[in-house]
Amino acid sequence: MAHRIKSLADYANRRFGLAGKAYLEQYNPFFVETDTARHDAQANGRNFVSFANYDYLGVSGHPAVKAAALNALEEQGVGALASRLVGGQRSTHHVLEDKLASFLGVESVLTLVSGYLTNVTAISHMMNTHDAIFLDELSHNSIISGAKAASATSHFFQHNDLDHLESLLEQKRGSYRHVLIAVESLYSMDGDIVDLPRLVEIKDRYNCWLLVDEAHSIGVLGQDGRGLCEHTGVDPNQIDLIVGTLSKTFASCGGFIAGKKPVTEWLRYTLPGFVFSVGISPVISAAASTALDIVQKETWRIEKLRHNAELFLELAHEAGLDTGPAIGRGVMPILFSDGLETVAASRHLMANGYYVPPIFQIGVPKNQPRLRFFLSATHREEDIRGVINLLARPQNQALVKGEPVSATP
Ligand SMILES: Cc1ncc(COP(=O)(O)O)c(C=O)c1O
Repeated sequence: MAHRIKSLADYANRRFGLAGKAYLEQYNPFFVETDTARHDAQANGRNFVSFANYDYLGVSGHPAVKAAALNALEEQGVGALASRLVGGQRSTHHVLEDKLASFLGVESVLTLVSGYLTNVTAISHMMNTHDAIFLDELSHNSIISGAKAASATSHFFQHNDLDHLESLLEQKRGSYRHVLIAVESLYSMDGDIVDLPRLVEIKDRYNCWLLVDEAHSIGVLGQDGRGLCEHTGVDPNQIDLIVGTLSKTFASCGGFIAGKKPVTEWLRYTLPGFVFSVGISPVISAAASTALDIVQKETWRIEKLRHNAELFLELAHEAGLDTGPAIGRGVMPILFSDGLETVAASRHLMANGYYVPPIFQIGVPKNQPRLRFFLSATHREEDIRGVINLLARPQNQALVKGEPVSATP
């Protein structure tokens, strides 16, 4: 059989073309070095505000977090240097895991080197032939990849449509041994939430396990930032597996699994992404642990984030911008009608000192390109008013629609 594409480089070129490389020809909004951009702006007396970082409570640069990282670096070195099972275990690991468990109100927590990996390895490890995974169609790619990697069957239900989930379970539950329902708590691209009390009732009725990915809701939802369970009054012990990440509110890097002790203990000795991968660095586990202390001590940060996100939503609506189903917490999309328009809008904001990357082609439905904003407790009211103003003013609508862009005075 003749093959027209011979080299991997040719194949890569073609695939990148199909993935939307042409969008980047005029202006590339990706891989912006935000530290350099901030530094340059400050040196030139210009504005630079990023809405691209999920440091929801603004603790990444907190002096106590930096001090904890430095201290761990001095005492324990940079890396864990082995799988925790066989030499990579450090005192910072169990300190963080115990604190997280008590913060979340669960029996036990296990941390891994990446939030993404956490979903992939947990789902693919637990779900086998004769099992099924029912997942929201807008689930994060790590959940989808975990389901793909599992030998179980996957069934997608329409986004946040629990009637649809129920009807699928009604038809199909009987065909499988174990069934896992996987959802996000606060969806990372749309900023909306699942109806958790109803989902718990459904999973009990159909005898399923439930995985809730709280990546974007810890520190964001609930009076004390404990996530969707606190926000909805659901006992976290009713959720079979809460997964989360250290890269957002905890300003660090890594993922975690929270649940009943028998579950985390089984996974501690068998989960491939844990057993066959290095333990998280003592530096970042110490940083995340201190970030968690700050979340609990400085609760004004949670309140400030809430205020900022609600203000953003209100102003965006006043300006006639489309925020989709976002509830007005940490994640806020502004939807556009096509990819080029979205890139132009991002460029227009950047020219005025606001970094908001466009999201299109990858990670969202093709017909729903958007600017995706992460709100933070560190944003000032003027940052929020400023960015909405730039998208709202009629003359800027023209700029946003793709005409040549220059900085407004
Ligand atoms: C819902 C969700 N789960 C998991 C992850 C992966 O987390 P990490 O970036 O810490 O690997 C993300 C990343 O943004 C996410 O949005």
